[in-house]
Amino acid sequence: MSPARGPRVVLGVAGGIAAYKAATLLRELTESGHDVTVVPTAAAERFVGRATWEALSGHPVATDVWTGAAEVPHVRLGRHADLVVVAPATADLLARAAHGLADDLLTNVLLTATCPVLLAPAMHTEMWQHPAVQDNVALLRSRGVTVLEPASGRLTGADTGPGRLPEPPEIAAACRRLLGSGARRGDLAGRRVVVSAGGTREPLDPVRFLGNRSSGRQGVALAAAAAARGARVTLVAAHLEVPAPAGVHVVPVGTAVELQQAVHAAAAGADAVVMAAAVADFRPATRAGTKIKKSEDPARDPVVVLERNPDVLAGLVAERAAAPAGSHRCVLVGFAAETGDESGTVLEHGRAKLARKGCDLLVLNEVGETKGFAAPTNAVVLLGADGSERTVAETSKDVVADAVWDAVVPMLTATTPVITPATTSQVPEIPETGAP
Ligand code: CTP
Repeated sequence: MSPARGPRVVLGVAGGIAAYKAATLLRELTESGHDVTVVPTAAAERFVGRATWEALSGHPVATDVWTGAAEVPHVRLGRHADLVVVAPATADLLARAAHGLADDLLTNVLLTATCPVLLAPAMHTEMWQHPAVQDNVALLRSRGVTVLEPASGRLTGADTGPGRLPEPPEIAAACRRLLGSGARRGDLAGRRVVVSAGGTREPLDPVRFLGNRSSGRQGVALAAAAAARGARVTLVAAHLEVPAPAGVHVVPVGTAVELQQAVHAAAAGADAVVMAAAVADFRPATRAGTKIKKSEDPARDPVVVLERNPDVLAGLVAERAAAPAGSHRCVLVGFAAETGDESGTVLEHGRAKLARKGCDLLVLNEVGETKGFAAPTNAVVLLGADGSERTVAETSKDVVADAVWDAVVPMLTATTPVITPATTSQVPEIPETGAP
């Protein structure tokens, strides 16, 4: 009997000085039972020789599609891989991957792969921050490719900054998470979910607004994860700083009241609503039709009077409670951005909010000047209405998103009828409440 095969990984290596670290990553993956084939680019071979990859992986190595052409390696490798990881991914490799070029074996593999793809960029800070590179990264992410944020620190020369390849154990952990999430693929098939993301803006006059620092990254990650797991997703998007993922229905909104209308319309018949948006609790009581001007007399400076916005999540909870017994039950998830203060810790505020809001799950995160908002990472505690508590230590917002859906899925099974693919035509259409 042949021994059980480990997950098949294609390790792409692009031509950057960090290519030498890929040897450690390769070692780490093979030693933990992965069957790794290395596909370097021609430029990578200038940094690390082919013999190193062959000896460490136990597989022959090629950089072009002509070697072993009879076996059509670019199709075989892509189709049979459980994961493709590229480390380091250079600016050039990111550009070629984003634009579908296929001029060597690695870019061909990226086009034929149907498995998860993880790219670990490494380059100089100026290159990483260049809009061309950032646009390519956004495009790749919008297609479901996981692009790790580079680490900050010493670069090739004397310079330091963001652009370092994350350490091999970190990349290996991200590989394991993606391979693990393969088992979760399809567990939201037939479900319809609504995610609100971003931050609402409450106009004071035609040019000014009261807003908040939410970038929408966590909500976008939740929408992308749900779509990857098979759900039909409506993303109610308030001023996102990041592109919405491909394959989700986007309803753009501006104010809290617009968000409330869009969420309520989309929530009808939905299996879950995740309120990740930062919704303004208050809006200016009056909105000037023309730009507010300074007068000569400081005594006549305007005073902004605020009035309350509706609590969207509380409204959904109340609507669900008022529904007749036996109605379709929607799982409701809230977020709580807390700072902790003299009246309680972050956790105490979270527990109180869960009880006050009456939702099924509360995703609690600590926010501050440098925590939570706009960052690619997040650290949360998932508080369940059943008293459960799961801590997700600082990690990417993609991993947090999967942890949230991991917690939601059993609640769906327990509370809503599973809609099998054969009956998905009975799922009500997503209301078109906004421009696509
Ligand atoms: N939320 C909402 N409607 C509002 C305010 C918040 O639906 N008007 C939702 C958010 O999307 C989030 C949850 O309620 O899922 C908690 O938001 P948060 O701002 O942390 O709490 P608040 O209810 O606003 O309470 P406070 O700011 O007083 O802590």
